[in-house]
Amino acid sequence: MTPDNRKTHWQGVYRTKAADTVSWYQPSPLPSLEMVAASDIDPSARVVDIGAGASSFVDALLDRGFTRITVLDIAEAALDVARARQGARATLVDWTVADVRSWQPGHIYDLWHDRAVFHFLTDATDRAAYKATMTAALPQGGMAILATFAEDGPERCSGLPVRRYSAADLVAELGENFSLVVHKKEKHLTPAGAEQSFTWALFRRDR
Ligand SMILES: C[S@@+](CC[C@H](N)C(=O)[O-])C[C@H]1O[C@@H](n2cnc3c(N)ncnc32)[C@H](O)[C@@H]1O
Repeated sequence: MTPDNRKTHWQGVYRTKAADTVSWYQPSPLPSLEMVAASDIDPSARVVDIGAGASSFVDALLDRGFTRITVLDIAEAALDVARARQGARATLVDWTVADVRSWQPGHIYDLWHDRAVFHFLTDATDRAAYKATMTAALPQGGMAILATFAEDGPERCSGLPVRRYSAADLVAELGENFSLVVHKKEKHLTPAGAEQSFTWALFRRDR
């Protein structure tokens, strides 16, 4: 899929489907918040949500006093939904329309968060570009939360093929600069009632 096709695909999804009907919708971002707690960061931390979509993770961060938040997605239509939900506090957030593979972070972050984005990168070149962005965004000591479909998870999402990962697969994928802090499996229940197996992993950039 070319970058343009990818953008068109995701714009189409958010323009035509209500945010609470897509398979990845979750009423509350509890698994993310558990990982944030494990990361030991505090509300002064700078956080970026990669491929955030219309997720309520940003709402939860704002509720907890975080104010240095970047919400990034390739689809502006997704950010429009999340931004509209925030009312006046939307101005506290940096809303960034960008492709993670080519995004150049304007500063460094304490926490990188990605739920269900990395697993769409089925080409090694795309994964290398993603990791280059992640490495540019995170200093030594920076934390990263990655959630992907697990080894027993779905093979496709939103009509697109995905790559599935165990925690060990993610460790191998990120390489020696990142160490695994904690990981867990989650059974996500889609709005249609299907169970999807996710791998969640919290990493620290060591060097
Ligand atoms: C399955 S959705 C997950 C959305 C959100 N993270 C959540 O948990 O609800 C995948 C999201 O990644 C975004 N996305 C896909 N490829 C991307 C890319 N290359 N750069 C930035 N965002 C991307 C899509 O627009 C979509 O919002």
